[in-house]
Amino acid sequence: MVNDAWAVLVEAEGKVHVVEMSAGVRKIKGLGVFDPVETIGSAPYGTVITLGQKQLTRMPPRLPELSRGMLRRAQTISAKDAGYFIAKLGIGSGDRVLEAGLGSAGLSMHIARSLGGSGTHVTVEPRSEHADVGLKNMERARASWQEFPGHHHVHGAIEEVVDEIRSHSEFFDAIILDLPQHPTAIDAVASLLAVGGRMACYCPVTSQVELAWEAAEGAGLTVEWAGELMERQWGKASKGGMRPVNGPFGHTAFLLIAQRTSIE
Ligand SMILES: C[S@@+](CC[C@H](N)C(=O)[O-])C[C@H]1O[C@@H](n2cnc3c(N)ncnc32)[C@H](O)[C@@H]1O
Repeated sequence: MVNDAWAVLVEAEGKVHVVEMSAGVRKIKGLGVFDPVETIGSAPYGTVITLGQKQLTRMPPRLPELSRGMLRRAQTISAKDAGYFIAKLGIGSGDRVLEAGLGSAGLSMHIARSLGGSGTHVTVEPRSEHADVGLKNMERARASWQEFPGHHHVHGAIEEVVDEIRSHSEFFDAIILDLPQHPTAIDAVASLLAVGGRMACYCPVTSQVELAWEAAEGAGLTVEWAGELMERQWGKASKGGMRPVNGPFGHTAFLLIAQRTSIE
């Protein structure tokens, strides 16, 4: 029997709706006016639910569905770059991870999923209107998954809240910065990186990655890798065979990864 706090409903074209399973008739954005408890109830995964003209399939609230159906405000980091960060930084069970800014929590949900139930995840965000959205997405994930790390959110610019960050963990195994300006943040938190731990910066433009590189070296870190990842989706061609699908071949960001290799 399905008893999710948030129901995931997927349209035929793949659009995902994440609906809070609380009783009461109300307007649910993109789906119309209904009571989710009466209409969706404990319907098993795979059940097709009709809402007006829409046919939606109920699916489990896994990371890809919660990401696709997330609330959005700030630009988000998607699976392509989040997956690479997690692999290159070696993030897993029991780790201590510091992340700024939280934004809409696109990256945060990936980190929380990788940490499982035994890690510490500290997020930082100065803009309440971004944090409101990001924390709602994190709450959906926490309520949906069996395991979730100890999550602490710190309000403020990362440069100004180092003592509060330190109160949650003295050192971190991984620090990820997705910010408009990296150098001041790197200067502020590089000393929180444990020996062997890695810091990653997400830099939409080249000037940012260059400045992040210089700041990381200035803070005593060793730059391990910088570059970008390109993703090209393929599909079935109408006359048979496979080929890259039509559409934009976009840019997300340049990534920089640096490691603390010594005590000083
Ligand atoms: C592009 S968004 C982050 C998106 C997030 N990584 C995601 O995947 O949803 C950048 C965020 O950094 C926040 N920010 C800007 N300056 C900051 C600072 N000094 N310290 C912490 N966060 C900051 C912004 O308010 C914004 O929400």
